[in-house]
Amino acid sequence: MTSEIIRFHDLHPTHADFEREALAGLRRRPAGIPPKFFYDERGSRLFDAITSTEEYYPTRAEIEILETRAQEIAAHVGTGSLLVEPGGGSCAKVRILLEGLQPCAYVPMDISRDHLRMAAEQVAAEFPWLEVHAAHADFTHRMEVPPTAPEGPRVAFFPGSSIGNFHPEAAVEFLAAVVDLVGPGGFLLIGVDLPKDKAVLEAAYDDADGVTAAFNLNLLERMNRELDADFDLDHWTHRAIYNEPESRVEMHLVSTRNQQVTVAGEVFKFARGETIHTENSHKYAIDRFQAMARRAGMNAAGVWTDHHGLFSVHLLRAGIAVVDT
Ligand code: TRP
Repeated sequence: MTSEIIRFHDLHPTHADFEREALAGLRRRPAGIPPKFFYDERGSRLFDAITSTEEYYPTRAEIEILETRAQEIAAHVGTGSLLVEPGGGSCAKVRILLEGLQPCAYVPMDISRDHLRMAAEQVAAEFPWLEVHAAHADFTHRMEVPPTAPEGPRVAFFPGSSIGNFHPEAAVEFLAAVVDLVGPGGFLLIGVDLPKDKAVLEAAYDDADGVTAAFNLNLLERMNRELDADFDLDHWTHRAIYNEPESRVEMHLVSTRNQQVTVAGEVFKFARGETIHTENSHKYAIDRFQAMARRAGMNAAGVWTDHHGLFSVHLLRAGIAVVDT
């Protein structure tokens, strides 16, 4: 049954998108599949579980920053804004900001439909004064505020170092798309993971309980479920490595023997040791990230780190366009 406490907008990518993009990625060598397809129902639940593992420090560090800086952030941004969260499927961290920001409405956008709906309903129930417009959408394709959302100075919220999951050039393009979304003078509050010790980074993406491994392997299970694939889970393993020159953690699914897999009627061969690259998580030092933001048309309005210096939160402001006459 559908509750009436939120407005739900369906702008969803289709099953055909998953099939097309997965097959294209499996045909390439090295093979790779876009990380957005991690997030079916099971993947979304496993992802939430990753964020509470001992080794995965970014969530704790970012929450510490948001909690200690909420007032400062609100003082910069002001109240009555339209708060948009691309990828905000669990509406978790935004709770820290809502009382201080008093936005005119909150617009979480996410690719995972039921996950988004449940989370949006919960946040609306907890904050009865808040108008919530949930948009079921793939923000990597399209970032639009639903037409019935109210007007207000726009603030985008992009926590979790999700920006690190883009290639650096695509990250600049995403930031430029946020500039278009928020308009001149609008803000972006964004979490960005910092470069650090290789062992700390690799453990964060390969926890001892195997939650991250299960999350990565779920992509194969999802293809089995949805694309009529026959991946044998006994012959694939999870690998996370820090690629230091590229300043990124890479996640791969490793074929543990020579094998052949059928996906949607198409046959793919994998040699022992060959991998499917499923995710990058780029780590940016503060000045490097600010330089990227400037290229996209945004300026630094604030930046904060946690007390261990593991993670950063940037407040960026879209430039005011100057018209020459
Ligand atoms: N964007 C976060 C990061 O790169 C969270 C994340 C996305 C993640 N995909 C992941 C964490 C896969 C662990 C595994 O850290």
